[in-house]
Amino acid sequence: MCLSPVSALENMEELKVHSDMTRTELGEVEGIPLTTMTCDTWDKIWAFQAKPDDLLIASYAKSGTTWTQEIVDMIQHDGDTERCKRASTYDRHPFIEWVLHKTLPTGLDKAEEMPSPRTLKTHLSVQLVPPSFWEQNCKIIYVARNAKDCLVSYYHFHRMNLLMPEPGTWDDFFEKYVAGKVLWGSWYDHVKGWWEAKDKHRILYLFYEDIKENPRREILKVLQFLEKDLEKKVLDKIIHCTQFEVMKDNPMANYTSFPTEIMDHSISPFMRKGAVGDWKNHFTVAQNEKFDSDYKQKMAGTSLTFRMEL
Ligand code: A3P
Repeated sequence: MCLSPVSALENMEELKVHSDMTRTELGEVEGIPLTTMTCDTWDKIWAFQAKPDDLLIASYAKSGTTWTQEIVDMIQHDGDTERCKRASTYDRHPFIEWVLHKTLPTGLDKAEEMPSPRTLKTHLSVQLVPPSFWEQNCKIIYVARNAKDCLVSYYHFHRMNLLMPEPGTWDDFFEKYVAGKVLWGSWYDHVKGWWEAKDKHRILYLFYEDIKENPRREILKVLQFLEKDLEKKVLDKIIHCTQFEVMKDNPMANYTSFPTEIMDHSISPFMRKGAVGDWKNHFTVAQNEKFDSDYKQKMAGTSLTFRMEL
């Protein structure tokens, strides 16, 4: 029911591969590692003019952003799967801080071209979100995922996305992630910063593990936050179409429309496992002990808690 023929992708021609596209280097903005291309356009990103009816989907990378985007898009289009296949996730929701290549439209360009109401995406830490989002009192949905599964997913994403920084070995990447020396910085600071912000702004804070456990309950929260009401059969359709197995087969949601020179799904698919607790297949006993004791320190003093398994 979800995979009938779709209209041609309007914007994919833009995604030409350029010979100078290589794994990105990292720079820093206010101590947070961001790609050098993001750093170079930072002034424009910071000056971005949000509008009051913009919806921002925010997350630390690999926390279920694409999943949340699909849920939101289906809600906004009353469960109309054809309309949700009008373009890839990447083109439906401009990624405000992203610059793929100097000759290609940036996330900001795409956002500026888009008619309202706009749904936008970011992985920025809360303190780096352009101030106009707060001034305009925009609604924001933040999705968080437990640190261990996020780390595993991020590692495999670095392997398959050939524009991400070189991950090194699993052991190397493990150390860099714990130290916050990865793109978008420290997972710990990210989730804590947004957790504090949710009490001061219109932020719906979701957890990957909760959506996995009970998608109906969590999708209802999104519906309420977006002030939408849908018939039960539409809700059932959204639950069905946003399941891992269905999204994995949806070319408009699984990133297979990206050139393989950018994302090589034969190394590791973007829709990899979609599970809670996969970290157990990656962490050594020593890594787990080290991680847990460091985690305890970094997460001390916050009321924010995560489930590492279901
Ligand atoms: P894994 O690598 O653990 O499989 P993001 O969109 O933030 O980059 O997150 C990607 C992660 O979310 C990947 O995790 C991907 O498989 C998972 N994901 C995407 N859609 C999902 C869905 N419908 N259900 C569960 N997990 C999903």
